[in-house]
Amino acid sequence: MMTSQEVVDITAKNTFGTWRFQRGWKPLHIVDAEGCFFTDAGGKKYLDLSSQLMCVTLGHKNQAVIKAIEEQARSLPYIAPGFATTARAELSKLLLEVLPKGLEKFFFTTSGTEANEAAFKIARMYTGKTKIIARYHSYHGSTMGSIAATGDPRRWAMEPSGKIPGVIFGPEVNCYRCPLNHHFPECDIACADYLGHMIENESDVAAVLVEPVVGTNGVLIPPDDYMPRLRKICDDNNVLLIADEVMTGWGRTGKWFAVEHWDVKPDILTTAKGITTAYIPLGLCATSRKIADYFDDHYFSHGHTYEAHPLTLAPAVAAINELKRMKLIDRANVSGAYLGKKLSELKTKHRSIGDVRGIGLFWAVELVKNQKTKEPFNSYTDKISGTPLLVDKITAEMMKNGVFVQAWVSHFVLAPPLIITNEEIDRAVKVLDDALHIADEQTA
Ligand SMILES: Cc1ncc(COP(=O)(O)O)c(C=O)c1O
Repeated sequence: MMTSQEVVDITAKNTFGTWRFQRGWKPLHIVDAEGCFFTDAGGKKYLDLSSQLMCVTLGHKNQAVIKAIEEQARSLPYIAPGFATTARAELSKLLLEVLPKGLEKFFFTTSGTEANEAAFKIARMYTGKTKIIARYHSYHGSTMGSIAATGDPRRWAMEPSGKIPGVIFGPEVNCYRCPLNHHFPECDIACADYLGHMIENESDVAAVLVEPVVGTNGVLIPPDDYMPRLRKICDDNNVLLIADEVMTGWGRTGKWFAVEHWDVKPDILTTAKGITTAYIPLGLCATSRKIADYFDDHYFSHGHTYEAHPLTLAPAVAAINELKRMKLIDRANVSGAYLGKKLSELKTKHRSIGDVRGIGLFWAVELVKNQKTKEPFNSYTDKISGTPLLVDKITAEMMKNGVFVQAWVSHFVLAPPLIITNEEIDRAVKVLDDALHIADEQTA
């Protein structure tokens, strides 16, 4: 049996820590997790305010999902994707029920990244066109295609040659920090129209790719007209709309999928994470019937050994049934409203909070040096150059006090398991409240 110190040392020395400088990495040894908590090797419990990577939607150790994995492992742990399986059919039936109507054919992957790769290839094969328009403040995955479509600085290390050509960037929708320096509603959502301008002037555009609510890059919620306007721009220009719901799917925003907030039907929807409450890696690329039918008489040039892997599909069936049984989509709205109210109260107390925004159980708290000028404490360049970030100091302090939360450059992403109770929310917000003195002391 290894000691905990050995586990940490070998992990840090012989395995890569993602998206970071490797020096100085001292990962915490985690030995258990249950409900909204996980436990380290010393027995200390942490309240999980971000569902790990915004993915453990049902909380840790959901018994129905674990049972589904066990049973599938016993009955049929693997079969090649060329065969039909009960898990594949059952999941497809459920997806037809819970996905936005019109998304009818499915390609199963083992990550959100690969779901987006599939979407790009399908869009290119179907339209015969090449370019993908994505937006700057976005993340779509880590491989050559999906990193090319990632607007945030995780792409920079791959510039200019380590990524697929043909992806271009437009402005994100961000009403707190408008990239066009406009103000809503007088702007009449010029950021959406600008994407139309790009399509008209680029030629050869296959698809526009958006996170309907931008996730890691700040829980950016578009004004109500934005997604319908974008849908119309795509339709008018014969361009596909791809909704990346890797983070926003599965009840996170208070609907099964975020696009439902605006009744917009994408041509392709990608998702992952909460689809199995993250216990087993699964991604999904879902297409419209029209796109699906195209491949009846055209070669579908895509596949993986692990596509439609039965062990990945069975837990998704269980996870969807659990979301329904526990009515967690409704609960996300109720608990989300409670969390939002508590966070808004924090904003009145802390001069370092510039903005609090959220939808469902998906919230961001953005820090600023000065509420009027909105000057941030750190920049994207700080993040990539390894400069210590203020938000990381605060998350470290919160960990000391038993609360785990994800931070990105200048904000926190609060996205707890949908089963979180109001008492757990109170406890988490109190720990954030206490830690924010670190930022308040540095405001100008
Ligand atoms: C919006 C979005 N798209 C794609 C991905 C990539 O998914 P994965 O990490 O499963 O490859 C992520 C991951 O955080 C994401 O948030």
